[in-house]
Amino acid sequence: MPLQLRPAQDADGAKLGLIGRDAFRDTLSRSFFPPHLYSKSETGDPSLDEAQWRAARTMRRMRDGKPTFVVVDVPEDGSGAEEVVGFAQWELPQATPPASEAVAEVDKDTLPGSLDQEKLIEMYAILEKETKRALGPDGHSKMWYLLLLAVDPTQYRRGIGRMLVQHGLDQAAKAGKDAFLVATPNGRGLYLSVGFCDMEEPFLLGGTPHYSMLWRKPDSTSA
Ligand SMILES: CC(C)(COP(=O)(O)OP(=O)(O)OC[C@H]1O[C@@H](n2cnc3c(N)ncnc32)[C@H](O)[C@@H]1OP(=O)(O)O)[C@@H](O)C(=O)NCCC(=O)NCCS
Repeated sequence: MPLQLRPAQDADGAKLGLIGRDAFRDTLSRSFFPPHLYSKSETGDPSLDEAQWRAARTMRRMRDGKPTFVVVDVPEDGSGAEEVVGFAQWELPQATPPASEAVAEVDKDTLPGSLDQEKLIEMYAILEKETKRALGPDGHSKMWYLLLLAVDPTQYRRGIGRMLVQHGLDQAAKAGKDAFLVATPNGRGLYLSVGFCDMEEPFLLGGTPHYSMLWRKPDSTSA
């Protein structure tokens, strides 16, 4: 079925929560939702808690003006509803580093009891330190910054991740900006294939190596 990209809408929130949860299930989510906190789940289902928390965070960030795009699978014959299969959320160039803003955001969301808040804040602190190591103290303020990219795991390798990243890069290029991200091992091959380069040695986040990567807008790479 054909894939189409469009801006995210409020009605997509629940599905984006599920996609984020399922895409990060074997990596970061394991440390945010550890077994010793399962008994603190208000719903009795930590995986539901995670989907709801992710949905609320993504929608709040979208309403705060962070560009958020989804790819939908559209039935060719017009029958049935479109299905959201992946999304990307970006931070526009701004004075506050995305990670330190995220620490401030923690108070804005309802955090489930099954979420290890200290681990979440620790992750944001590592991200801020590594972003500054790669870009300098205010380098992020000149970049489009990819906050989150996730594809429904049942839909991998259909080109959905590439569509989403490329769309963000096209927007960044139009605005005359470079782009930055912190890649998971899963995302790194995709980012290399669209022109991102490694900047620093990898660092550990939730026990997994992560990579600071930079993409230069076309006119600066040809200079
Ligand atoms: C990373 C992710 C977004 C890729 O989504 P996707 O829709 O499967 O990616 P695409 O189909 O657009 O792949 C584009 C290219 O990226 C590379 N690529 C994608 N997944 C890859 C993998 N697992 N291993 C190696 N290369 C990969 C390939 O070059 C691929 O092109 P090809 O299929 O023609 O060989 C998806 O695997 C995901 O959501 N992972 C979990 C969450 C995550 O790690 N997000 C990134 C956070 S920075």
